[in-house]
Amino acid sequence: MNSVEGTNQAWSELAPDYERARALEDSLDKLVEWPAQKDLLGDVSGRSCLDLGCGNGSKTAELLTMGATSAVGVDINGNFIDQRPLGLELIHADLNDLASLDELKGRAFDRILFLQSFGYVSYPVPILKHARTMLHEDGFILLSRTQPIRYALERAEQHGTSLGEEYFSSSPFTYRSSWNDQIALTKRTYTMSDLINTFSAAGLWIEASVEPQLSAEQRRQFPHKQEWMDKYLGILIFKLLPLPGLMHRH
Ligand SMILES: C[S@@+](CC[C@H](N)C(=O)[O-])C[C@H]1O[C@@H](n2cnc3c(N)ncnc32)[C@H](O)[C@@H]1O
Repeated sequence: MNSVEGTNQAWSELAPDYERARALEDSLDKLVEWPAQKDLLGDVSGRSCLDLGCGNGSKTAELLTMGATSAVGVDINGNFIDQRPLGLELIHADLNDLASLDELKGRAFDRILFLQSFGYVSYPVPILKHARTMLHEDGFILLSRTQPIRYALERAEQHGTSLGEEYFSSSPFTYRSSWNDQIALTKRTYTMSDLINTFSAAGLWIEASVEPQLSAEQRRQFPHKQEWMDKYLGILIFKLLPLPGLMHRH
């Protein structure tokens, strides 16, 4: 089994733990990430959305309550919510097969989301390029990723090395999931430059990026979460648009 197959397998087992953790009152996804992702996404009224690596599809469904006309989710796990509002379509598939998915052939979207899922893609540039070609004119991609410094710091603590050594290390790393320590996930390391260069190579530019933090009230209410954020920083969210001169559909 290669590391990508291993990760796919791991996600099949991890999904229930991830969704349980996400639903907790003090989950960072609930407190910080999803509100900030929605904020950068902006008004989706009358828009079509594609949510790649959508988890159980509950965020995808929420896009409809926010006014989107259609919302399509794709996830390798296939452990989807049962309650499906009109306009919601959930597809059990591998993101790496994006270009060949029958369900998506010839379709275009106003918003394409990669929320904490882009790290599981085997070939990031071709997938992102393909996502760009699926955008309607004036469409954009919203992509969130964990701060690479977080993983570098965790590895430095584990290996007794330095932050810089781990930040610039190019070997894949395996770590125990914080949602279930019986399950290991393997990821490639990345730096900020890697991310930015991936976006450029895919014909995208960063219109805005955000590093969301807890509010003052949340800090008081959830000091243990602030402690974690002070150490590991959280996530980055990017709003990505096709480079000028590049047609969306090419
Ligand atoms: C951290 S979760 C994020 C879920 C959701 N986007 C959210 O923000 O709550 C990562 C998701 O990516 C999915 N995933 C991992 N590898 C994938 C692949 N190769 N194809 C499709 N989905 C994948 C997992 O099953 C999981 O649901």
